[in-house]
Amino acid sequence: MRLELRDVFHVYAPGTPFEVEALRGVSVAVEPGEVLGIVGGTGSGKSTLVQHMNLLLTPASGEVLVDGVDARTVERGELRRRVGLVFQFPEAALFAPTVEEDVAFAPRRLGLDGGEVRTRVRDSLEALGAGHLAGRSPFALSGGEKRRVAVAGVLAMGPEVLVLDEPTAGLDPATRGDLLALILGLKAAGISVVLVSHDLDEVAEVADRVCAIERGVVRAVGTPAEVFYGAAEEDLAPATVQTVVALGEAQRGVGRPVRFRETLAALEALAEG
Ligand SMILES: Nc1ncnc2c1ncn2[C@@H]1O[C@H](COP(=O)(O)OP(=O)(O)OP(=O)(O)O)[C@@H](O)[C@H]1O
Ligand SMILES: [Mg+2]
Repeated sequence: MRLELRDVFHVYAPGTPFEVEALRGVSVAVEPGEVLGIVGGTGSGKSTLVQHMNLLLTPASGEVLVDGVDARTVERGELRRRVGLVFQFPEAALFAPTVEEDVAFAPRRLGLDGGEVRTRVRDSLEALGAGHLAGRSPFALSGGEKRRVAVAGVLAMGPEVLVLDEPTAGLDPATRGDLLALILGLKAAGISVVLVSHDLDEVAEVADRVCAIERGVVRAVGTPAEVFYGAAEEDLAPATVQTVVALGEAQRGVGRPVRFRETLAALEALAEG
């Protein structure tokens, strides 16, 4: 699926003293099968932006297009299934007595038969490394375990685009690494992933393209190298890019790597040469 936001404006509490113009003419597309990273400071509009992707929020003006068609013409349940959104701190919304039932909730509402629901629940819990938690109460899990279960619940709907709003915030490095591996696995299976993150290094690792947003306006969209090297002077760069930039003149022989391994290999080659 190709998902596109075209000149989207969003206003919270319009016409009140609390009015906030959170998005101001945002245009960005999620291409089929890509990982799109969305970065930007606190309050820049990232969560607002991604909630337009399945019309959980509706634009004050502008359009959301699904394969070129106005998303408002797509049946709402269908849209929410095809564009799966995992909220920031999704674990707050776990509710069922067991993990299994929690993850089964959305697929069951799709009208799938019992066997198919069970398969999906098992597969998505496995994908999150949470199969062993199936029979537990979601309330008696650790924060990281809850996060895995919450992501599994959206994955179980079989989305074509999976939108993750700061999925790794507050997780330990191992769980974070698992989630990034999952993102690459989903991409390999043809699913598009939108990754909102404050962690530029993790975005550098997995994103095909990056959208940088600032005060409700898109500041840059492009490959990680384009966006991060373009903004390296303004602190909007992962440690890998900052390291290369800090090399100054010698940087020329290194190119513009952004992933850790590429950067390491480039620096090794430079040291040897
Ligand atoms: N429900 C709401 N009502 C009013 N204003 C809101 C609401 N949600 C967000 N805002 C405002 O809209 C702007 C963008 O908020 P948003 O949550 O999209 O930012 P964000 O980039 O996701 O930030 P963070 O990195 O902290 O999650 C902020 O100024 C915020 O105060
Ligand atoms: Mg947010």
